[in-house]
Amino acid sequence: MQFGSPHHHHELIDSTNVVAKELAADGAPAGTVVTASEQTAGRGRGDRVWTAPAGSALLYSAILRPLDLGHLLLPLAAPLAVCEACESLAPVHCEVKWPNDVWVDERKLAGVLIEARPPDWAVIGIGINLSIADDEFPDDIRWPAISLGHGIDPDAMRVALDAALTKWVAEPTEHVVDVFAARDALRGRELAWEGGPGEGGRSGTGEGIDERGNLLVRTSGGEQVALGSGEVSLKLGRPGD
Ligand code: BTN
Repeated sequence: MQFGSPHHHHELIDSTNVVAKELAADGAPAGTVVTASEQTAGRGRGDRVWTAPAGSALLYSAILRPLDLGHLLLPLAAPLAVCEACESLAPVHCEVKWPNDVWVDERKLAGVLIEARPPDWAVIGIGINLSIADDEFPDDIRWPAISLGHGIDPDAMRVALDAALTKWVAEPTEHVVDVFAARDALRGRELAWEGGPGEGGRSGTGEGIDERGNLLVRTSGGEQVALGSGEVSLKLGRPGD
């Protein structure tokens, strides 16, 4: 299975994820990719919106089907594909902020929104900032953002991402865990969370991820807790705080 065939491009649509989910529900084949120059209702994680000026980001959704246990770490494999694709095109070093934001220099370069109907299909939605100027990012974003720059256009980014995603969805779980560890932006970092476990308070230090993709945190009381991405909301100090 190869992502990018077929490829449907739209100049303006509500959300590539919404369109890809409709295609998936209608039986579109594995590997189908939907892109757009601009979205009117781009979706982010946790019901947030995702906005980007026309033509200045890769707005990409890919259909993976069927799903099986080998895809358990898809939420971690997808940002690793984004890292690899970006690094293949520009002289940057990418890290992953668990579970699936991609950071360059502690600023958010890309986000991933996976929407799935297991065991039938998943839509892997990816937004990568390419040429958005610093003053064009919305004022209310929760974390500083950055663009890849270096003249990379959405089409070049799409081709690189098709290849990297094709590789990363098929990687064995152990390899995903190992490479994620090498790119883990939260290891050793103080963080707090809302929801989920934490008897002695919901703050501690990132200690990597486990084999199921949970974030491991050592609380100040010395307890190690495993946080699932669906159950907690992380709070980090912003750079410079
Ligand atoms: C996040 O960081 O909150 C995830 C953002 C995901 C945005 C992309 S843009 C392409 C695709 N279509 C959407 O509506 N959302 C994803």
